[in-house]
Amino acid sequence: MKIRSVDAYQIFDSRGTPTVECVITGEPGLTGVGRVPSGASTGQYEALELRDDDPLRFGGQSVSTAIGHINGEIAAAIMGNDVRNQEAIDLRLIELDGSQNKSRLGANALLAVSLAVADAAGKASGRALYEHLGKGQGSLLPLPEIQIIGGGAHAHWRVDIQDFLLVVMNAASYEESLKVTYDIYRKAGDLLMQQGRAAGVADEGGYWPLFETNHAVLDFLVDAIGAAGYAAGRDCMISLDFAASDLYDGEYYKFRSPDRRFTRDEFIDLVVDWCHRYPIISVEDPLADSDWTGWTRLSDRLGDRVQIVGDDLFTTNPQRIRKGLEINAANAVLIKPNQIGTVTETIAAIELTKQHGWLPIVSARSGETEDTFIAHLAVATNAGQIKVGSFARGERMAKWNELIRIGRALGNRAQFEGGRIYERILRR
Ligand code: PGA
Ligand code: ZN
Repeated sequence: MKIRSVDAYQIFDSRGTPTVECVITGEPGLTGVGRVPSGASTGQYEALELRDDDPLRFGGQSVSTAIGHINGEIAAAIMGNDVRNQEAIDLRLIELDGSQNKSRLGANALLAVSLAVADAAGKASGRALYEHLGKGQGSLLPLPEIQIIGGGAHAHWRVDIQDFLLVVMNAASYEESLKVTYDIYRKAGDLLMQQGRAAGVADEGGYWPLFETNHAVLDFLVDAIGAAGYAAGRDCMISLDFAASDLYDGEYYKFRSPDRRFTRDEFIDLVVDWCHRYPIISVEDPLADSDWTGWTRLSDRLGDRVQIVGDDLFTTNPQRIRKGLEINAANAVLIKPNQIGTVTETIAAIELTKQHGWLPIVSARSGETEDTFIAHLAVATNAGQIKVGSFARGERMAKWNELIRIGRALGNRAQFEGGRIYERILRR
């Protein structure tokens, strides 16, 4: 299917912030759509999200420059190309941009086009998107990491840790893991109400709680899991995203709740101590994205019993993942298409991670749209894990629901490993 027209325009993400949508049209009636998400706790090494910076329009957040690049330069460069040549088109986009971090045309411009090409190619091939992307090899439904409580930059720093997530360890199916999540998310909400600690929901749909310390939230989560009728440490584990680049001032790690600062080694001690005291299976960005030494030290101490995930550290960038592999900085990589800017590079990051025995986790952003590409990506690549925020709000549920549909389409080809996925990296 040859590209006949490219149309980009501004839509809004789940925070109501402008973002880019792109429609690519080929043979009559066939279109592909791409919509770009956006982070709040972004890593300094991410590909650049181009915004207009005009204070009089959407507080500087409008994206008309990126859209202009798609409708002008990019459309001219890819017109007539066959959408099934994803790699060639993505390479063309990268060359056209010409910068190190996609800052000339904008990673949001490139990704909108790259996603729309993938979607159109799926339709042109007459297959579901996950089948097209995975060349028919994708069959593993991912283990969900689901946010129960939000903090950090997503909840005005009410607590320091950004995500308190639930991992259902021994569900027999993807759908059963959602059932357990439902029970615990609801129970946690009821308990917060009873305790007068509910202040609404944070950016990704997790509760925005009124707690004085981070470890009080951990105690609360363990209680909520038990109150819902599950055993913390056996049925369910906790996963934390520290988003520690936001806690680091270049010298010290700082908590606001309570006010305390830590040296790198003190902060590593704290992470290790929490992992001993609480049923924690995974820690994401437990250290800052510039603190490679700290990452290796933590991995030496915890890497065989806890999943250690680099998000801001790696920014889905194969170069940074390679460095992490060399110095044993982690054992898992968060995968966010908009951190790197094209579908081809995103898949390359997943493959590189898997080749070296680490685990990829396909992830949404805190600013999301109704787009379900990442659900298809997770299955297509047999990534094994997915992180989409909480169990509420349309932009989150769109992904959880799409995975239900993909599971039904796979029928008895569908696989689900649940918490056994961790046996690939951990000895517990
Ligand atoms: P972000 O948060 O999308 O605001 O960066 C998600 C995450 O840190 O995993
Ligand atoms: Zn993160």
